Amino acid sequence: MSQMISVDLIAGARPNFMKIAPIIDAIKAVQSQGSLLNYRLIHTGQHYDRAMSGDFFAQLGIPEPDINLEVGSGTQAEQTANIMMRYEKVLLQQKSALCLVVGDVTSTMACAIVARKLGVPVAHVEGGIRSGDWTMPEEINRVVTDSITNWFFTTSETANDNLRRSGVADDCIFFVGNTMIDTLLKQMSRLRPPVFWNELGLQPGQYFVVTLHRPANVDGEQQLLQLLHAIVGGTRGLPVVFPVHPRTAKSLRQLEVEIPGLHYVDPQGYLEFNYLVRHARGVITDSGGITEETTVLGVPCLTLRDNTERPETVTIGTNELIGTNSDNLAPALARLLDGRWKRGGTPEKWDGHAAERIVAELERLLV
Ligand code: UD1
Repeated sequence: MSQMISVDLIAGARPNFMKIAPIIDAIKAVQSQGSLLNYRLIHTGQHYDRAMSGDFFAQLGIPEPDINLEVGSGTQAEQTANIMMRYEKVLLQQKSALCLVVGDVTSTMACAIVARKLGVPVAHVEGGIRSGDWTMPEEINRVVTDSITNWFFTTSETANDNLRRSGVADDCIFFVGNTMIDTLLKQMSRLRPPVFWNELGLQPGQYFVVTLHRPANVDGEQQLLQLLHAIVGGTRGLPVVFPVHPRTAKSLRQLEVEIPGLHYVDPQGYLEFNYLVRHARGVITDSGGITEETTVLGVPCLTLRDNTERPETVTIGTNELIGTNSDNLAPALARLLDGRWKRGGTPEKWDGHAAERIVAELERLLV
């Protein structure tokens, strides 16, 4: 039998899982046509809760990881070091033809460093995006990862430009589109209301969704409190649904605030969360990935950050940068509720076929 060529697919934290799922599907599809491309799925265990990890694997049909590094929580350095030590052991035992990392989480950077130092080439899906904000651990992860990446699979022309400007050769950059959107489009017909939909009396177009987890917004209790009051104050009595990230839950427990109209719920599964987003009047968030989903769904999005590594969600999509000052919320929400929000369009190649393009390139490069 001919030798299979095995690629390590690295998944560590919640926003990785929807980016990896369509790549696995696309590899299986070429395998069924006789391709020699194979994969080994490695979960670092950075996110480990059922709500942050297990449910996503089940809903998105991601197979059980071949290897789970089980690193768990820790400081940035602890997580990085643990992932590196454990992934190095894996590679020393059995090398792979390529280490494919996605996104910008700690696991992305840690595994890329290990692979490259052991002579295993690195491919970065979502390479090249930059916020310019060095207070975000994700920005450091992006820059470090891209500085040692061999092949870049990009989501936008801006990413391509950023890479060229930093000296990356054109033939290492593959503008493929957005695998997170592959997943969204594939799952669209399966989206389903969360269990609390009726209980909270939610109606399509008649509620808001909030997600907050960036240290700048949630680690300082007063900042978080001001944002929440401004959100509820600006949404004219419409219910506000707030799936609370574990980091944010820690701050909220200390605050113990009840605000009428604000509904705290647990982190949601993929299908429930995107159902909520799809039918919301608007989304208020400090996430990056969610601004891509709202863009494709055509749902107004207010981003509580001063910068974004995904500028196309603002220039083409429905996203607007509101900043972190809670005073900015009232006028923006008024514009939205008065029907004066932009409509937005879909960025180039966010068409559901990014993973197929990636796998076609991998076959060309490796097989
Ligand atoms: C990480 C990513 C961020 C991503 C976010 C999505 C980095 C640097 N950041 O941030 O880019 O947007 O995930 O969720 O990689 N925790 C649990 N259960 C879990 C996982 C985490 O309770 O399954 C707790 C941890 O104990 C920790 C906190 O949540 O206190 C934060 O987790 P961590 O992985 O450190 O970073 P995130 O803030 O989730």
